[in-house]
Amino acid sequence: MKKIILDVDTGHDDAIAIEMAAGSSDLEILGIVAVSGNQTLDKTLENTLNLCDSLGIKAPVFRGSEFPLIRQRVVAGKIHGETGFDGPVFGPRKKQAESQRGVDFIVNSVLEAPGEVYLVPTGPLTDIALAMRLDSRVASLVKGIVLMGGSLGKGNVTPSAEFNIYADPEAASIVFSSGAPIVMMGLDVTLSVVLDPPRIQQITSKPGKARSILKASMEFYTQSCLRYAGSYPAMHDPCTIAYLHDPSMFSVKPMRIEVETKGSLTYGRTVGIEDSQSRTLVACKVDQQRFWSFLDSALEDRA
Ligand code: RIB
Ligand code: CA
Repeated sequence: MKKIILDVDTGHDDAIAIEMAAGSSDLEILGIVAVSGNQTLDKTLENTLNLCDSLGIKAPVFRGSEFPLIRQRVVAGKIHGETGFDGPVFGPRKKQAESQRGVDFIVNSVLEAPGEVYLVPTGPLTDIALAMRLDSRVASLVKGIVLMGGSLGKGNVTPSAEFNIYADPEAASIVFSSGAPIVMMGLDVTLSVVLDPPRIQQITSKPGKARSILKASMEFYTQSCLRYAGSYPAMHDPCTIAYLHDPSMFSVKPMRIEVETKGSLTYGRTVGIEDSQSRTLVACKVDQQRFWSFLDSALEDRA
């Protein structure tokens, strides 16, 4: 059983990643921290609480960072909507956020279980960077960081930068230079797994709460991705969960990742330098059949 802490900016694809993690019998979610990203923190926290409450996910949910470290906050309302998770409608919820700060939860969890905890950020890296600054042992005691972010090639929010990095480049620079063992799920691999209408139909034709929430989210998300990203929804964040379940479905290569924090046109770009000694592995391919088979199986109701 792998112990994981999700750090999410829920978000349509974050929601699928959370559903998959909760449905994976080989993953134990120690906690879920909501961070500002796709939408403001209040909205990403609300979406995360609603999803967990609706699916009966017992993991504690925490407030993460409301703003990036240095830059002005940016959100992705065009893609994820005004709520950050447009589409599903949730009734009144019982689940509340914990009173403990999310960054403190991350630090305490890693220190209490050295070498056992994976951090799984699928939004901007603000919380992870703050945890590393709060206690310098985090980078060396974490089992690994499996993150969605970056791109060796084109960006998606600017020609140079992928959104999660662009939303807090300084945090990303701290994390990628920390020496922690990192697996980067960048656009190079995530754009290859696209949820098109036939696949949505196949996945949502079966019963289950997770599938019905995914179905309710896909009409809006498909339209916004077609309009603003020029493609059907890519399964960005779910790649992190698929990797944790079975790393062998991905091809990875060791690279040093540098983050541009000074450029105006290139702000937030991730530059990869081949380095066989690097503790950062960059995913470049995924076995499509195994990825979709796992995603589908992980959505089975476990209740
Ligand atoms: O660029 C894709 C990433 O930005 C995903 O994590 C998506 O949820 C948004 O946060
Ligand atoms: Ca995300």
